[in-house]
Amino acid sequence: MHVVATLRIAEHVEAGAGAIEKLAGAVGCDARALHGVLSHLVHKGVFVEPAPGEFALNDTARQLFDGSKFLDLNGIGGRMAAAWATLPTYVRTGRPGYPEVFGLPFWEDLAAHPEVAKSFDSMIGPAGHGTPGADFEITGGWENVRSVVDVGGGTGGMLAELLRIRPEALGTLVDLPGTVARAGANFDAAGVADRVTLAAQSFFDALPAGSDLYLVRHVLNDWPDEETLAILRRCAEAAGSGGRVVVMGGVSPDDSPRRLDIEMLLVGGVTNSLSEFREMARQAGLEVVRAECQAREFVVECLRVSSSGKLLASADKGPLAVGCQGAGRDVSPPEPLEP
Ligand SMILES: C[S@@+](CC[C@H](N)C(=O)[O-])C[C@H]1O[C@@H](n2cnc3c(N)ncnc32)[C@H](O)[C@@H]1O
Repeated sequence: MHVVATLRIAEHVEAGAGAIEKLAGAVGCDARALHGVLSHLVHKGVFVEPAPGEFALNDTARQLFDGSKFLDLNGIGGRMAAAWATLPTYVRTGRPGYPEVFGLPFWEDLAAHPEVAKSFDSMIGPAGHGTPGADFEITGGWENVRSVVDVGGGTGGMLAELLRIRPEALGTLVDLPGTVARAGANFDAAGVADRVTLAAQSFFDALPAGSDLYLVRHVLNDWPDEETLAILRRCAEAAGSGGRVVVMGGVSPDDSPRRLDIEMLLVGGVTNSLSEFREMARQAGLEVVRAECQAREFVVECLRVSSSGKLLASADKGPLAVGCQGAGRDVSPPEPLEP
């Protein structure tokens, strides 16, 4: 699938190059080798071969038109496919083997390869994972929330949707400069650009202070515990006594089974149980006041606590934790990656 996506085979077949010799010529490949690949895919239900050496599209192959950008071996699809080969290193050491293959840790690799970073942002954003569900509940309701900081908010898909459904709120997008620079289209599409401030910075540095809510979605699962604690501390410091921190991703209900996620291999990310997270949040000066499955996300809400452990803002609902089947993020490309 990666190979045919990278070679744009579906597009060439659509354009009339279905015969294997013609197809191989069009994409600059060895005809016999390409024939083997396509026959294998036909056997798996992708493409059809109505006559020997003559290939045509079926519905599955047509999905390659849209999905191919996340399978293209020159983009994020290639990074992810190769990362699976580092599983033995990860299993032996608990640390990602990604730099062994690509020479740099994942985030540095993206910074060094803007086109790959762009395809990662696109896959994570609405074009890949769809429009995120922003209609989650918080203790006391949204009436008093006028400002939201999306910490590591990518190209702003979640913040755009959140501001769209909450017209009274202002938002700040915090992410790395290259990613923030690609966010404009999502805010324009949602009609919220005039309520957004862009903060191109690291979330390990001091965050824009004084907002009512700090959202950390699908970020903590990208980091080991030490960095997770640092991000939570930055959020707690910025949130101040009245603010709250809402986390999605990187925390799972205590009774949920462990998962093997691609971010473990890419970046050594960890998903903590709610009990483990509760302890880390306390170290950061936060208390978990609500943890609940909402719209397939495990949404964990925290409020600031004083050094004596007292809540600095009121929570109208006691701590609760409700299981969440299938919650969490899936950073896999949209198509199965069978060899
Ligand atoms: C998996 S994406 C999640 C994006 C978004 N929150 C979402 O829910 O789709 C993780 C984000 O963290 C950002 N990131 C990584 N390191 C960062 C850093 N040091 N400071 C700020 N953002 C960072 C990446 O650029 C990326 O957009």
